[in-house]
Parts: sequence; structure tokens; C-alpha cells
Amino acid sequence: MLNGRNCVPRIDFSAACNVDSELLFGSESSELQRLTSSVSSALEDVGFFILNNSGVGTEQLRTLKRECIRFFGETSERKLAYKRTNPKVEMFGYTAQENSTEIFDINRPCDIKETFEFSLRGDDPVPTDEWQKMREELSRDFSLLYTRLILIIARALKLDNPNIITSKIKGLGTSHNRTAFRAALYPEVKSDRILPGQLRCGLHCDYGCLTFIYKSPFERGLSAKERGGDFIDVYGLEEGDLIVNAGECLQMMTGDLIRASPHQVGFPQPTEKGVVPAAFSLIVFGLFDDEAEIETLPNIGAKTSYPMFKFGDYFTMRLHKVFVEGKGLIDELLE
Ligand SMILES: [Fe+2]
Repeated sequence: MLNGRNCVPRIDFSAACNVDSELLFGSESSELQRLTSSVSSALEDVGFFILNNSGVGTEQLRTLKRECIRFFGETSERKLAYKRTNPKVEMFGYTAQENSTEIFDINRPCDIKETFEFSLRGDDPVPTDEWQKMREELSRDFSLLYTRLILIIARALKLDNPNIITSKIKGLGTSHNRTAFRAALYPEVKSDRILPGQLRCGLHCDYGCLTFIYKSPFERGLSAKERGGDFIDVYGLEEGDLIVNAGECLQMMTGDLIRASPHQVGFPQPTEKGVVPAAFSLIVFGLFDDEAEIETLPNIGAKTSYPMFKFGDYFTMRLHKVFVEGKGLIDELLE
């Protein structure tokens, strides 16, 4: 059960949303300077932060959540019509808990969750027209948010030219970039059915650049490992807020200045009747283009220097680690 403390910063993003993206990197507005330093500190210290006024449509998030929860409540037969067949190569579709081969720790019981992955670019099937409509609208919003945050990070790193990073996501919304949504349902469970060591989502780092999570402010369970190894609860959201966290490739690109923090989803306190209520998350995994060359940027005061690799190759290796080896963490990237 949860015992972490909460010190994840909450950052107001409106200063970035009020500026045209083209002008975001060069603007000298004091509000943007403050925002840049808040994002920078959060990504360096915890690797997680809460974002409000993100520019992503709250109504669309709510509608998509409703569609997803309705789908998860359907019969197995109907859900399995969207089954993700081979998760190592096929990214999209539904995975029932009993069919999950996503294993973050081979020595623990499997996670208690069911998921539906679908692309940002929008050409893989989703269950309803409303779901598709919300996917299209949210894809635009998340693409803009992702780009804006990359520009804020480029400011924080004091790059001469932000294109050195933005050029690596120019394929966003096309077949060159596998940025994706995940709807995750953590079903209601009786606490006496939870096995020792079992989690809703095991300890892991995200693989890519930036991850965005929409969830109910009232649902607890997500915790992240701080520098030094203590878990902190990622809590304190208000409706419409997003959680943002950094992935391993952003850590390597910044030579360990930015942290990809290990995180997990545990079980919050059960009710008096011994039931842990269901919870839901909508996640966007912001990835680099498959062909993007990732290496530690020069002249940023990096702590470590990582040699160049192609993002697509790294992503394939990471899927293998999780779906074949049952390993959610890369030891060399941990402190
Ligand atoms: Fe994650």
C-alpha cells in the first residue's frame, strides 16, 4: 500500500500556451523564463511534474475516458475483437489482464490491469466513432503540447537552435513516429485477492521522450522513485491536469541532466469492505521518430555522454526487454 510522500511540483503552463509556438524558443517574457526554470528543476530533480492549463481539451479527455470505460465494461468477446496480437511488433489494440505479456519484473506476480493502445496518427481501429473523433482532436492538442514542452526544454538547455531536438519529432502524426495513447483500466479488486508483491503496473521507466497522463484527481496509486531511492506519491492534481514525466531517451540526450524516474502504480487503501476501487488512466507516450538519431547534446553541461543510436532500434530493444525478458528497468540508466 501507499506510504510515499508527495512533492511533485504543479506547474501552470498558460504562459507557453499564450505564445505562438514559433516564438516560444526566443521569447524573453519573464513568465516564460519562470516556467522554463520550473520545468527544468522538476525534470532534473524528480523527473515528474503536474501540469495545469496544458492546452489539452478537458472536455475531450472526459469524453474519451467515458468511451474507454464503457469499452472496458463490454464482454470479453467484444473486447477481444480488438485484441493486440503480438505486442512485440504490433503496438495497437486491446490486451486483457490474462493475455498480458508486459512484464516489468519476472520475479513478481503479473500486473492487475487491462489496456487498449491506439496511435496518435489515427489509422488503427478504435471501438466507436466518438472515440475516433476524440482521438483526432486530442492528437492535435497533445502534438502541440509535446512540441511546446520540447521547446521549453530547449530553452532550459540553452541550445543555440531548438531544431536539434524538434527535428527528431517532425514525423509526429505520421508513420515515421509511433507516439501512442494507452487507456489503462485498473479494475476493482478485493484486497485479499492481491498477491504479495503484486502491483497494478510494475516498476519501470518510460522509454521515449515525454509521457503525459490524464487521471482522476481522486485516484491514488502512482508513485515515482526520487533520487536516493525514496518513493513519492504523484498526487495533488485538479480535474484536467496532466502528469508529465521524462523517458530514457530524453535522459540520454541530456546526458543524465533530466531523469527518467522509475515509477509504478500500486494499490490505494481499500474501503471498509476490503475493496480497492477501480482506477483509470489515459496515457500518451511521446516518442521520437524511428529514424531520429539520439545522442548526448554537446555543450549542455551533461553529466554523462551516451553514444549515438537510432530511436527505432532502442524502442525495439526496450519492447524485447519487457515482453520477452520481463525487465522494466535498464540498470545502466539508474543512479
Ligand atoms: Fe510509465
